[in-house]
Amino acid sequence: MLSLELAEAAGPDRRAVQVGYHAPVAEQAGTTHAGIVLAAGSGTRVGSSRNKVYLPLAGRRIVTWSLELLRRTPGIARLVLVVRDRDRELAEEVLDRELPGVPVDLVTGGATRHESEYRALLHLADEIRRGEIDVVLVHDAARPLAPVRIVEEVLATASRTGGAIPALSLEEVVGVDETGRMSHPGRSDMVRVQTPQAFRSGLLLAAYQAAAVDGFAGPDTASCVERYEGVPVQVVPGDPRNIKVTYADDLFAAELFLAASGYEL
Ligand code: CTP
Ligand code: MG
Repeated sequence: MLSLELAEAAGPDRRAVQVGYHAPVAEQAGTTHAGIVLAAGSGTRVGSSRNKVYLPLAGRRIVTWSLELLRRTPGIARLVLVVRDRDRELAEEVLDRELPGVPVDLVTGGATRHESEYRALLHLADEIRRGEIDVVLVHDAARPLAPVRIVEEVLATASRTGGAIPALSLEEVVGVDETGRMSHPGRSDMVRVQTPQAFRSGLLLAAYQAAAVDGFAGPDTASCVERYEGVPVQVVPGDPRNIKVTYADDLFAAELFLAASGYEL
């Protein structure tokens, strides 16, 4: 199973690099960072017939906003977009039109977010083992408004400590027991996690490989790294505008946030 996936993930998924791409991707003395954008969900809760990440937002597709954010980050020289097979053609069309000439590898995702992420890591595994990729950023395509500040902060923090995630503190929360009764007042030590999340590549790959052996699938990247690599994951401030497009209303909110920021993240 594992070797099959490895062979598949290492297949010729790379889009041809086109001439004349509009901004060079950065490189740092032989090592680079890689950005993984997860777009292999089905987007059922938004209620559209197509995957939500291909819906338009302020003139471009949601997925384009998410990729563009990582493309513009100095040091990120490898971009991987994880797609469903049935979206592959659409993804290629969107990339050619909205990010012409930007090298993006397309990788087929899996049934869960965890599985999609693992497939992207397997795609990068050889480069990671050769020490060519320093930090990997994992970002949900469904968060098109992540500010550059968060990307830079998780990158710098993960380089230093091993792993970093953005999060917002929770207000007005209480615990509820199984009968529906309030069980304890709000806990100030809980936070709401966002993406992009960043991890040193070797420990991220090792954590996902160990999880695959166990059949463990965590709700997000950080939970897997903490469990298998024992690396303390550093929390950096998230941003309330960094919403995940989950329901149809979120599209309106995203348009408003973008307009209010002058279309600059
Ligand atoms: N994702 C993925 N592979 C999966 C499931 C989710 O790459 N098998 C990605 C989604 O494309 C999205 C992100 O993970 O960018 C967060 O997931 P979510 O917001 O739940 O998106 P969907 O699963 O697509 O939407 P829904 O749960 O409403 O069906
Ligand atoms: Mg989902």
